[in-house]
Amino acid sequence: ARVVVLISGTGSNMAALLEAARDPAYGVRVAAVGADRRGTRGIELAEAAGVPTFVVPFRDYTDRSTWNADLAERISEYAPDLVVSAGFMRILGPEVVGKYPAVNIHPALLPSFPGAHAVRDALAHGVRITGTTIHFLDEGVDSGPVIAQTAVPVEDDDDESSLHERIKAVERQMLVDNVGRLCREGWTIDGRHVRFGRTAR
Ligand code: GRF
Repeated sequence: ARVVVLISGTGSNMAALLEAARDPAYGVRVAAVGADRRGTRGIELAEAAGVPTFVVPFRDYTDRSTWNADLAERISEYAPDLVVSAGFMRILGPEVVGKYPAVNIHPALLPSFPGAHAVRDALAHGVRITGTTIHFLDEGVDSGPVIAQTAVPVEDDDDESSLHERIKAVERQMLVDNVGRLCREGWTIDGRHVRFGRTAR
């Protein structure tokens, strides 16, 4: 299956997918990596790996729907079977979500702590267990059907960065496992089985 990965920063989750996709048996081809801002480490990593990249800078736009439409247009050039939002810090509108199946990874156990500061919010709340969620995207913020979750305990001396690093280590594995499984086996949603029926191309 063909996958377009969207990122906003470091791209360590995207890099884990690229690494896994080197094995043809994984069944995923990363057709392109896109970002909402220029100069990210993730885009550099993708370029170094020889993967096509594109940037649709959010800050160059005055309205969200034009940005979403341009992003959808760039994505469509790569004809993905699945869009993976992996550390993409913008809300995708119907222009994208209505067109492609899309999954997102979030550093908390949804529906707890949605939004851009999930790790900070979990620490501030004093929870003892947090984690990470991979879910299908709908048009809400960190909403949509849950695919998988993994719990991560909060240590007494955690700060936002130590906790986020531990979550990210777990998150990368969960993303690799689940994107691979979805691409190889498809999924059932609203009683309908979605399957790509082909291997990586
Ligand atoms: C991940 O924790 C993701 O869940 C969150 O942002 C982080 C992205 O990390 N939305 P990276 O860019 O994949 O390294």
